[in-house]
Amino acid sequence: MRIIIEKDYESLSKKASLLVASQILLKPDSVLGLATGSTPLGMYKNLIEMYKRNEVDFSKVTTFNLDEYYGLSPDHPQSYNSYMKNNFFDHINIPPFKCHLPKGNAKNVVTECYTYEDKISKCGGIDFQVLGIGENGHIGFNEPDDSLNVLTNLVDLRSQTIEANSRFFESSCQVPKQAISIGIATIMKAKKILLLASGENKAEAIAQMTSGHVTTKVPASLLQTHQDLILLVDEQAGKLLK
Ligand code: PGA
Repeated sequence: MRIIIEKDYESLSKKASLLVASQILLKPDSVLGLATGSTPLGMYKNLIEMYKRNEVDFSKVTTFNLDEYYGLSPDHPQSYNSYMKNNFFDHINIPPFKCHLPKGNAKNVVTECYTYEDKISKCGGIDFQVLGIGENGHIGFNEPDDSLNVLTNLVDLRSQTIEANSRFFESSCQVPKQAISIGIATIMKAKKILLLASGENKAEAIAQMTSGHVTTKVPASLLQTHQDLILLVDEQAGKLLK
């Protein structure tokens, strides 16, 4: 694992965008795994600016998002599909058919999970996976538990996650209680992983995921066994790193 500590959120976002852009320069038809939430917003903003300056071309890139709320249609304002369109896809030259998210309103969720996993495999797997981390150590929506899903699955969200995500909704009762999330093996099979964390509220999760021990109670701790992981944190998120 390589650890990069940046001074603040702004420089972390800049570095993250440069790492993603380098991946695309090296492999223009890269398959990117993408994340939502507050953390990658600055990275997306920088990538859009780089695209406008002709420094990066997304025309051959394929993307797969980590997760989507179950029960929300893709055009729901709080869906991750809407988040990705508003914050990234609508501002770059990626063909819409190359952007994939699980369908939150799929009639048959088992088929949806299988199909999503299958699409990732048929594209050759993920070259570069961007991850955030939950305060409870979750990655994607793989929540701390006695066991973790290997492949894409319907998952129940923990109350801590529902509470944390309620800031995007009018109230916590509006936050969906379930989501479709890619599994741990799907993440671990990515050739390169970039995990971003910013702010003091992530410091404990970052300390636990680098403790030298692996536990399903801190899903991100499994990343310690990945052969090409970059942990990119700001000083606050990294303040408990030994
Ligand atoms: P955040 O979410 O970027 O909004 O903090 C990260 C996550 O829950 O994985």
